Amino acid sequence: MIVRPRRLRRNKVIRDMAAETRLSPSMLVYPIFIREGKGIEEDIPAMPGQKRYSPDTFPRALEALEKSGVSSVLLFGIPEHKDECGSEAYNENGVVQQALREGKKYFPDICFIADVCLCEYTSHGHCGLLKGKEVDNDPTLELLARTALSQAQAGADIVAPSDMMDGHVAAIRSKLDGAGMEDTLIFSYAVKYASAFYGPFREAAGSAPSFGDRRSYQMDPRNVREGVREAMLDIEEGADMIMVKPGLPYLDVLRAVSEISSVPVGTYCVSGEYSMIKAAAANGWLDEKRVIAETAVCLARAGADIIVTYFAPEMARMMKEGEL
Ligand code: PBG
Repeated sequence: MIVRPRRLRRNKVIRDMAAETRLSPSMLVYPIFIREGKGIEEDIPAMPGQKRYSPDTFPRALEALEKSGVSSVLLFGIPEHKDECGSEAYNENGVVQQALREGKKYFPDICFIADVCLCEYTSHGHCGLLKGKEVDNDPTLELLARTALSQAQAGADIVAPSDMMDGHVAAIRSKLDGAGMEDTLIFSYAVKYASAFYGPFREAAGSAPSFGDRRSYQMDPRNVREGVREAMLDIEEGADMIMVKPGLPYLDVLRAVSEISSVPVGTYCVSGEYSMIKAAAANGWLDEKRVIAETAVCLARAGADIIVTYFAPEMARMMKEGEL
């Protein structure tokens, strides 16, 4: 007798009933770049369809986003002035802090997540303070904690440290708690690889390191056990949620981390993943909508509860229309 798995694929109703992976717009987070200045809404050449906004034009982006059904944003700042110690990152009137105040005022129902890192704010483009040519872990922690606190005070619901310093979550948690911000969540980029897929982001944010690379703090793509260790450390330090980054090339890591995690696990489908799909679609080589849908499914199937992606508005629309 022939065993017939195809019966479960006969029509859409049956396929939907049998689906092992189900998606909802509530799992999506949309990253937005905020640039210092006024009246700015400019295209990012390496990321077709994505823009940089100034704090005053940022609510326009939120309005469009809310209509699409996405209710969480992740903010990155691009300051006018950079220095050795990234002081604009923890300036209470820094560009992200301004955007948070503006956004919270008009969109109280949106969940605001602020990226915590120094690389967009330092003149050398590294994610921490330098000692010679090396990134100095422990003195960097205080600056990250100050950044997170100023973002929380400006209205961030969640802070998301992406620096890959050891001990960062504990440092941020104790700073937040000490200032009465014990309800602010920490969504840690616990398992972040030194990846070439961040290329378009570094153009968008002007954050490429001026010398060397990030391999002495971001993870080695050859390792997965180490990713599990990083995840466990951040959870022990008090992370409320953790993330694996990039997304599609690291599904095995996402699976491994989601199996051991006691907190929600996210993934970041990064700028290079976005731009590759956009470029292929622009050439007519891929069906963009179907690839976007499949991307969301694959990330969720591998264990992602939360997906951070530049495709969030398109994915949310497809989910609402039952196409995904
Ligand atoms: C900051 C940061 C980066 C990204 C997110 N946070 C860049 C980097 O580590 O170089 C990359 C996001 C993307 O590529 O979409 N440290």
